[in-house]
This record gives sequence, structure tokens and C-alpha cells, in this order.
Amino acid sequence: MEPALKKLFAQNRKWSQSIKDEDPEFLEKLSHQQKPEYLWIGCSDSRVPANQIIGLMPGEVFVHRNIANMVIHTDLNCLSVIQYAVEVLNVEHILVCGHYGCGGVKAALESKEHGLIDNWLRHIKDVYRFNRNKLDKINSQNERFDMMCRLNVVEQVRNLCNASIILNAWRQKKKLSVHGIIYSLKDGHLENLNISVSSLSEAKRKKMI
Ligand code: CO
Repeated sequence: MEPALKKLFAQNRKWSQSIKDEDPEFLEKLSHQQKPEYLWIGCSDSRVPANQIIGLMPGEVFVHRNIANMVIHTDLNCLSVIQYAVEVLNVEHILVCGHYGCGGVKAALESKEHGLIDNWLRHIKDVYRFNRNKLDKINSQNERFDMMCRLNVVEQVRNLCNASIILNAWRQKKKLSVHGIIYSLKDGHLENLNISVSSLSEAKRKKMI
């Protein structure tokens, strides 16, 4: 086996053994069903791994990741994850997690061409356009970048609130909250953006729908 893969398999056996040492039945029990309480929608960035950041074991968080943690109305991949999480797994919390220093957000702020990915980044450029007045007032480039990372999370939470799956869940009075949070690569801390929504009336009151 190639050394790069061999290392992974060796680490995998070590990991599974450490889980068994802690609780011999953990993996066996988990193999029968998953019952996560959370759905995480985050960036694909290798520095932002869902389970580790929030200290959750396998089985505790359902995860969808893409470039710049986007919730796009026509993205069947993301929508399918959301539907399964809400309707089958009955998760009670959906966390949209952005992060400072996001390469996707940065690329969307530039005018350089990046190829196919530009079509994906288009959606983040829209976030800039929606918030142009607020953003253009910020002189510091770093602060503007940080603000864009936060505003992108807000926009994706808004998209989530407007997804038919979420609207239907709230209409059915299902217990379901959506949250916007952001992660700092520098200190490993999560910050709550305080834009949580738990019902249709709250979504309307907070102008998310
Ligand atoms: Co990112």
C-alpha cells in the first residue's frame, strides 16, 4: 500500500481500538441506528471539521459541507441532506457554520477568474451585492472580509429559513431551530451570531422570510 494510505489505515485501527477501549459496545450499538440531534452545514475547509470543533462523537451530528457553507435553493445535494435530517432523523437544530478567513468568500470578493468554481462563488457575490452599502463603508480590507464571512452565514440561514422543507416543518409545529455561527481559525472559538429562528412567526418577525 502507498505510504500515504498506509498511514491512514494504521491510524484508523488505532482510533477504532481507542473507541472500543472506552466503550466496547459503542460502535456495535451505533451500527444499528443514528439519532443525531444536530445538522451541521459548514465549509469544506480542512481546518473546520464539524465533530472535533464541537466535541461530538460519531452518531451525534449529521454533516453537510461545501465551499463556503452555502445553502442554495436548487442544490439537490444540500436539500436532500436537509430533508433527510429534518424528516427522517428529526434533528432539532441546524447549525450553519461559517469561518473567518474563508477562501471561498475571499475568492468571491476578488475579480480574478477561477474557472468552474466561479459559478458557485456567484452566490457569494450576490451576498456582497445585497450588503454593498454596509460593506463599502468599511475601510479596512480585513474587517470587510470578516464582515462578509459573517454576512454570508446570515444569508445562508435566511436561505435555509426559506427552504420548503424548513417552512413545512414549522407549519407542522415541529421542534426545529436554525442557527448561524462562525468559527475562528486563529483561536478555535465558535461565535454565535444570534440569528436563531425556531418558528414561522419568529422567522417573519426577524425578517428572515
Ligand atoms: Co471556507
